[in-house]
Amino acid sequence: MKISILGGGGFLGRRLAIRLAADGQLGGHAISGLTLFDIVPPPAPDAAFPVHCLGGDIAELPAAAIPPGTDVVFHLAAVVSAAAEADYDLGRRVNMRGTDAVIDACRALAKPPRLVFTSSVASFSGGQGALLPDDARQVPANSYGAQKAAAELFLIDATRRGFMDAVCLRLPTIIVRPGRPNKAASSFFSGIVREPLLGLETDLPVPDDFAVWVASPRSALGWLMQAAVMDTTSLGLDRSLNPPGISVTVGAIIAALDQVRQGASALIQRRPDPAIAAIVGGWPAGFTATRARALGFAPNEDLVTLVRSFVADDLDATREDRGI
Ligand SMILES: NC(=O)c1ccc[n+]([C@@H]2O[C@H](COP(=O)([O-])OP(=O)(O)OC[C@H]3O[C@@H](n4cnc5c(N)ncnc54)[C@H](O)[C@@H]3O)[C@@H](O)[C@H]2O)c1
Repeated sequence: MKISILGGGGFLGRRLAIRLAADGQLGGHAISGLTLFDIVPPPAPDAAFPVHCLGGDIAELPAAAIPPGTDVVFHLAAVVSAAAEADYDLGRRVNMRGTDAVIDACRALAKPPRLVFTSSVASFSGGQGALLPDDARQVPANSYGAQKAAAELFLIDATRRGFMDAVCLRLPTIIVRPGRPNKAASSFFSGIVREPLLGLETDLPVPDDFAVWVASPRSALGWLMQAAVMDTTSLGLDRSLNPPGISVTVGAIIAALDQVRQGASALIQRRPDPAIAAIVGGWPAGFTATRARALGFAPNEDLVTLVRSFVADDLDATREDRGI
């Protein structure tokens, strides 16, 4: 099986590449080649099969990013929420024209590949009180969400036309993100766990009773890999899934943090930020995720397990990365 990861240098892309390299197989199929594409060539993980790393702009996708014979494409490259809101042209170019370029590259292949696309909870609105069913309409409240929703439609049509076999996962907010704070409006949901565990102060821009739909990196990886090999015949025309995250309050995340490291939350400063609150406040706080559950997508673990996983998987590397 030949695999390409577009956005292979990002948070989820790198983890996915490391996991595939370690497993050597996906869904029982031996991996024979992995291509990693990002703005700059991503680092190659140690693997028993060839790994090709290349850099470039997804809006002008080089043919080598999805080489002939590719079976699975993970399309993760994106300009994330607050960055796409701050720079409309950049978001549109990468999130929409980039996806268009991916469709053209898949059309050029002799055999249509499975394409796994990471859409987002941000493609919906509804806000704090919402519990959205699988057939809820996507009415985005920001440009990033609109670009993700539009990309889903293009990929669904490209599937209908036989250019690819797409599965779009509308990922919840993934916590805990290692490394540094980033430009996603949702960055603070990870920051309120990661920064105190590093011994650093961090800002909380929303109230403690603010609810959010989250998932762990471990769950997200499991879902991406399942989407790459699942039987898509039952999906019909509707290629988009809401995977089973968990709906939690910020207060519950903070309580889980304190359960894992007593008193750590003293480093969280409550500093309301109306601009951030306006973006994340539009995202629905819950989904029924009935369809994905029925298809066997595993439910996310509880918050305390999620915080412990961050400590086990990422805390030391983050400390080293940031020179702390
Ligand atoms: N992390 C989350 O909470 C979350 C939630 C919902 C959806 N998603 C989606 O999942 C995917 C992966 O998220 P992530 O957290 O790993 O994001 P990330 O920002 O870490 O990774 C995205 C990658 O895309 C690359 N990229 C940006 N512009 C590019 C361009 N012009 N050409 C080539 N590559 C380019 C970036 O360099 C980056 O490495 C994204 O599509 C994101 O929208 C993430």
